[in-house]
Amino acid sequence: MSVTAATLSHVYPLGSRVNERGRLEIGGCDAVELAREFGTPVYVVAEDDMRARARSFMDAVAARHADFDVLFASKAFPCTAVYRLLAEEGLACDVASGGELFLALRGGFDPARIYFHGNAKSDSEIREALTAGVGHIVIDSLDELARLEGIAAAVLDGGRRQEVLIRVTPGVAGNTHHAISTGQTDSKFGFGIDAAREAIARLRDAPHLDLVGLHFHIGSQLLELEPFRAAVRTIASLGDFPVYNVGGGLGVAYGSADQPPAIADYVEAVVSTVHAELGADKRLLLEPGRTLVANSTVTLYTVQTVKRNVSTWVAVDGGMSDNLRPMLYGSKYEALVADRPLAPANDPCHLAGKHCESGDVIVRDVSLADPVTGDVIATPVTGAYGYSLANNYNGVPRAPVIFCREGEARVVVRRESYEDLAARDVG
Ligand code: LLP
Repeated sequence: MSVTAATLSHVYPLGSRVNERGRLEIGGCDAVELAREFGTPVYVVAEDDMRARARSFMDAVAARHADFDVLFASKAFPCTAVYRLLAEEGLACDVASGGELFLALRGGFDPARIYFHGNAKSDSEIREALTAGVGHIVIDSLDELARLEGIAAAVLDGGRRQEVLIRVTPGVAGNTHHAISTGQTDSKFGFGIDAAREAIARLRDAPHLDLVGLHFHIGSQLLELEPFRAAVRTIASLGDFPVYNVGGGLGVAYGSADQPPAIADYVEAVVSTVHAELGADKRLLLEPGRTLVANSTVTLYTVQTVKRNVSTWVAVDGGMSDNLRPMLYGSKYEALVADRPLAPANDPCHLAGKHCESGDVIVRDVSLADPVTGDVIATPVTGAYGYSLANNYNGVPRAPVIFCREGEARVVVRRESYEDLAARDVG
């Protein structure tokens, strides 16, 4: 019997299915075998899914606008193999720290197509960005502007000027968790409209900086399109520039009931508003993170204990060290027993992590098919902000990343060792 993808929730990576053995299959690889071979917890990436979403994004923009770049907001999944894959797909890259800049360069991005962000860039990070020759530095404050001008005077030679954008906080907030909303007026990010006018005026005379345009990013996991349109309308009042970076933020489906806007609908909304408000001749930069990588990845765990208390607690070998999102944002995930995804599920239980906190619950009230010790549990949609928020709480080594494609699996980030845990301890 072969069961196709239609029986799995649409949040799983493209091409996922239940295989002939009745087990979850990702990128052509049997999830239970992956767990045996690479251990758990493990991030399993369906490489073709990531490529397909990157292509959809690129194609959607290319069909509507001539002069553009799609930037991978690399905070979503900053490992070398992901940088490399998205560079191969022709994307540019957004980095928000010296570390992300280092990784993006290592992953093969042309420095001229790396765009440097951050609300609290250090002098050394600014120096690194200028020396590397990044495409744009996105200025976030007047203090930064003054420091950047000074460092540029010292670092740039031969009359070279650094292209910069100004990050504008348009006073538009999308409907999302407050911790990941950034476009509201009182934000730690960017310039409000009036402050942006001041920054624009100051940059007019800056000898080493060349203001080419504006940037905004109003928030993340946004499921409505109107806030993106409103943000474009708002920044249109700040004058006419050759470049506009409209940020990222399009939400994805975490659960089978979620139906976020399609990439093409989002792009259509943004591009049509840009054309109407700013003109069709602009250089347009879009900066998705989550949309490109979230659904490509499934985390596999192994059940350690099943405890029947008032509730049933199914505890696995990972948790808030590999997926902080349920704890930080109350994010809801799905889960299934990878050994038998189609078996009938029991009454809801709580899928708990192994960490020493009661809040370390990966999924509350999830129906699983009679989980027992040793079963492999899969939680989908962990490709964005899973690996990047990972930590060593309780001395748990961070999980490896495995790329799967057409039945072949390869390690792209190895599991941390106990020695790694002590590698920086010098005293
Ligand atoms: N551009 C800028 C300047 C950003 O700050 C971000 C995300 C993005 C683009 C990409 O946003 P995306 O397309 O991924 O929504 N850790 C949180 C998300 C924080 C997002 C921070 N900035 C989470 O796990 O939901």
